[in-house]
This record gives sequence, structure tokens and C-alpha cells, in this order.
Amino acid sequence: MHKKLLIPGPTEVSKEMLNEQTRYLIGHREKEFSEFYGGITDKIAKFFQLTPDYKPTVTTSSGTLWFDIIGRSIVKQKALACVNGAFSQRAAQTIVSCGKETDVIEVEMGKAIKPDMIAEKLASGKYDTLMVCHNETSTGVRNPIAEIGKIVKKEHPDIIFAVDAVSSMAGDKTLPSEFNCDIVFGSTQKCFALPPGLAVALVNDRAIERAKQVPNRGAYTDLVDIFEFEKKHQTPFTPNISLLYALNKRMDLLLEETYDKVYLRHKDMATYTQQWAKKHFAMFPEPGYESITVSCISNTQNKNFKELNQKLAEKGYMISGGYGKMAEKTFRIGHMGEWNLSGIKEVLNAIDQIWGLK
Ligand SMILES: Cc1ncc(COP(=O)(O)O)c(C=O)c1O
Repeated sequence: MHKKLLIPGPTEVSKEMLNEQTRYLIGHREKEFSEFYGGITDKIAKFFQLTPDYKPTVTTSSGTLWFDIIGRSIVKQKALACVNGAFSQRAAQTIVSCGKETDVIEVEMGKAIKPDMIAEKLASGKYDTLMVCHNETSTGVRNPIAEIGKIVKKEHPDIIFAVDAVSSMAGDKTLPSEFNCDIVFGSTQKCFALPPGLAVALVNDRAIERAKQVPNRGAYTDLVDIFEFEKKHQTPFTPNISLLYALNKRMDLLLEETYDKVYLRHKDMATYTQQWAKKHFAMFPEPGYESITVSCISNTQNKNFKELNQKLAEKGYMISGGYGKMAEKTFRIGHMGEWNLSGIKEVLNAIDQIWGLK
């Protein structure tokens, strides 16, 4: 029996999207490809309401490539990276492994990164790049990026502000104009509800100009090269054309639904799940900073999560345990992509029955 995925990525992918990928391939240096790919980036620009100084691109990679792109092509001297969970920690480590000096602001798991913490660090004037994760999937914490962005834009216009929106882009609000960021990226296996293998990024001219000043950018991680090819509506290397077919269709559906309604649908699912969690358990994130695409719930009743997932499988669903060290203490429900409120109600109802919750 197929288990519908409510794990925080990969999320459930519809048959329609899977089928899109079975079309015949075209050559990626052909005019036909440029027209097709240019059409996708136009749709991305429209959905994310880009002003002319922002350019979209799609890399054949998972989202982590963008940690490397930032480390190799953006950080000049020194970065400030904010850590409040496993993915933001990996981002910080990646920048360091690219040979760039990095200071870290770290807060306890479950807590958010606050604007004043960043303002205080940036006041030293030591940093040229700021990296923050919007939606820390490991803890279900949503960092206040828009408030952080306001400070960066006003007080530190020379800093490049990069945002990991891997698990929130195309679900939560992530417009560059809302974030005041220079780079924001997401992965297709999350809210885009596609298989893994592509990352969608929105990058402004300032970030591309910065990259021109940074030596040793590598090949796959060369941001300047990526946007040179974008001018021809191509990618520097052979892209995953099959998955681009599906992304093209996904962008049509997102545009049809509209940015605001996509957000409201995710918000409704999150609100309902949070109410359910508070009735029976407790939310793990500090209040006011809960993700709207993945709910991380403290298992305050010490229920047997493994057994739950086995029984849910019989009903055709799969949710997720806690991440890493929090495996025993929390469990996570990913409500992203094509999921809607009635689907989430069914799943929570199934959990009520299995665990005997009233
Ligand atoms: C917030 C966040 N950042 C980065 C990543 C890594 O993305 P990918 O697996 O697409 O490389 C993930 C994956 O779950 C994530 O949730």
C-alpha cells in the first residue's frame, strides 16, 4: 500500500506530477529548451513577484548546493551564520569547509534567532555575508526573517543576506521583497511537491556583482557562471530536464492558486495542527515562532511513536519522528505541498483513533 507522505520532505507527489516526467527529452543547448526553460523562470519570477533586479534560477541539485554556492561565491572575508537546529548548523559548517571565516550565533534547539541578536553582532562591522535559515525543519521553528531583513537593509547595505527557505518556499511567505534578502532558495521535494533533485533560487544583481569579486568559485558553485547562462535561458551543465517538465506544471498550478492562497492554505493546516498538538501534547518551538509547513510536537505523553507510524502505514499515511537528538522527545508532521486542511484533519483523526486521544 502506498503511504502518503507527511514527513517534512520529500512530501507527497501527485501522479500528475510524476507523469509529467515521462515526456521525451530535448537537447539542453537547443532553442526549444531555452524557450521552455525561459518559460519556467518567467513563471517563477511572476509567482515570487520579482522586481527586475532579482533573477530566478533552477539548479539541478538539492538545496544544500546553495550552502556551497554561498560559501564559494558569496562570502568574501567573513560570514555570520545563525544556528538553531541541524540544517542551519550544516549551513554554517559548509561555509567554513569552503575555507571562509565564519562566526556563529547559536541558540538552543526550539528557540528562534531574534533580530536584536543579529543587530548586535553586525554592529562590529566584521561581516560581508549573513546566512539565516527561515524554517528550521529539524525543530519546526520559523525565524523572523522579515524583521531581520529590515535591519540588514537599513543598517548594513553592503552585507549579502542569504536565506535558506528550503522547507518554506512555495508554502510560507518567502518573497525577496518581504524578506529584504539578496538570495533565497528552496528545494523541490518540499513545498513545491515534486521529487527531489532541483533547487529554485532567487538572486539579486548585488549578489551576482559580489560573486564577481570572489575568487575560487569552483564549477558547479560558480554563481557568476550560473547567471551568465541564465541570460541565454540555459544552465551551465546538463539539467534534470525530466524534473523541469514537472516544475513547469507545478508553476502553472501555483500561479493558478495564487501566492496569497498558497500561504493561507499552509497557515490553515498549521493552525489546526498546532491546536490539536496543544490539546494533547505541546508544541516544541517557542510560542510565536512555529513553522507553518512542519509542526514539531513535544511527545509529552511519552506515546510510542514507532508503533503509531506502523499503524498509520496501514491507513496509508506516514509522519516523521523527531530529528537527530530529538528523535525520542518530539515527532513532526509535515503539512506542505499539495496537502490541504481536510487531508490533515483525516490524518489527525487517524492518530486520535490509534492513540485513543479524545
Ligand atoms: C531547512 C533545510 N535546509 C536545508 C536542507 C537540505 O536540503 P536538501 O536535502 O534539499 O539538500 C533541508 C532538508 O531537509 C532543510 O529542511
